[in-house]
Amino acid sequence: MPDIAFVKPALPRSGALVLPLTEEAPLAGLAKQADEAAGGAIARGLEAAKFKGRKGQTATLWAPGAGLSKVVAIGLGKAADLAATGAEAGGGAIAGPLAQEREAVVAADGLAPALAASLALGVLLKSYRFDRYRTTEKEEDKPKLERVAVATSDATKAKAAFAPMQAVADGVFVTRDLVSEPPNVLTPAECAERCKALTKLGVEVEILGPKEMRKLGFGALLGVAQGSANEPRMVVMKWNGAAKGKKPGKPVAFIGKGVTFDTGGISIKPAGGMEDMKWDMAGAGTVIGLMAALAGRKAKADVVGLVGLVENMPSGTAQRPGDVVTTASGQTVEVINTDAEGRLVLADVIHYCIEKHDPRFMVDLATLTGAIIIALGHEHAGLFSNDDTLAQRIEAAGKAVGEAAWRMPLGEAYDKQIKSDIADMKNVGGRPGGSITAAQFIQRFVQGRPWAHLDIAGTAWSNKDLPTAPKGATAYGVRMLDRLVAEYYEG
Ligand code: BES
Ligand code: MN
Ligand code: ZN
Repeated sequence: MPDIAFVKPALPRSGALVLPLTEEAPLAGLAKQADEAAGGAIARGLEAAKFKGRKGQTATLWAPGAGLSKVVAIGLGKAADLAATGAEAGGGAIAGPLAQEREAVVAADGLAPALAASLALGVLLKSYRFDRYRTTEKEEDKPKLERVAVATSDATKAKAAFAPMQAVADGVFVTRDLVSEPPNVLTPAECAERCKALTKLGVEVEILGPKEMRKLGFGALLGVAQGSANEPRMVVMKWNGAAKGKKPGKPVAFIGKGVTFDTGGISIKPAGGMEDMKWDMAGAGTVIGLMAALAGRKAKADVVGLVGLVENMPSGTAQRPGDVVTTASGQTVEVINTDAEGRLVLADVIHYCIEKHDPRFMVDLATLTGAIIIALGHEHAGLFSNDDTLAQRIEAAGKAVGEAAWRMPLGEAYDKQIKSDIADMKNVGGRPGGSITAAQFIQRFVQGRPWAHLDIAGTAWSNKDLPTAPKGATAYGVRMLDRLVAEYYEG
């Protein structure tokens, strides 16, 4: 990923120049200087390319003169409509055209410093690549962008706006790395091990293994784990940023489903596309990246992140459909379908979170149901909550950063669907409202506390490029929940 610098407006004498342009603005400031130095070639080139500055429009001019190898123009749409997400998308749009350049200057002198920072964030987020396992890629095909210098009228202001964004981007990259890792590498133990890196940022990291979890009575989580040769883990990450030296207050809690691979267990999934189930730990990956983001920007809040890490495998020791497990809360569950494992993992971790950390509220994230993809596609995560204020805040925070969530209902009628004949509940409620009955299941473990559940099965991974993410792991939720904390729970 490139380094981002903010500099005073000055014309580069070589290399690539990026011109973010709105619909109404003619070439002005740095862009105008560049055009004059190039003898009007930039204006002529943009005219020939029919570049109008429309949102998402790009044009590349090669060697227009003035020593420049390349000018990349990106359209930002109407100036009056330009918000942070638009500037980010504009930044994202130049990551591709700049991939083969070592350095680029962005003529952002026409943008407010905060928008210049957002644009830089977009370049950074879109430049992400997971290439740890490529060994034969040709040198000329590798991305080369090392430094992006954003020229702005107020470099100090832009820099200050960007500093927390860089921390959040680093958190996003933590998540994307974890979610992209193959499942033979990222076992529960390995994922837990990687959480330790957060101690460098001042996060307290505690890892619990099967022995500790047996003591805590985690019958549901351990039931999922029992078919796998890879032991489960639970990781608790604490960031106490609210008041230095003082006793921390009630924390806000984030809880992630971390199924490092979901075969379905004995209720095994079909072979086609099963490899996608390596990202069934995206909820956990998001919580880990979120903790990195919050600590990285020294958020003034007390936050605890918990992840339940297991592998769901079929084997001679695997749990069976029909098994009854006792959760940490004491409630019993008839396991009808071993593929509805995420809710079993969350049940124990949520209960532990309440008993041990007495949270102000809880938000869980989970790639929980295929049904949420049927309902909402890949454009919104499903948002379920017993607390209207919390739900509205999450929705608003998501909107502000381009991570949309859509509120879904909860209700007693749905809860009836998970009644069991022999236990307190069963772990599936049939096909109708499958995402809702999954949420009802989780709600039985929150003890009436303020809680929200984000079903991110449709948003954790993308099969196509997005404005600020290349295809692959999106880290959906990191920015949303960082914003939630920043906006409502700091200071
Ligand atoms: N991890 C899956 C959900 C999932 C499916 C995520 C597709 C991403 C893409 C989850 O553990 C699961 O298998 N859910 C079942 C529940 C069913 C058995 C009630 C499902 O959605 O089919
Ligand atoms: Mn499953
Ligand atoms: Zn799963």
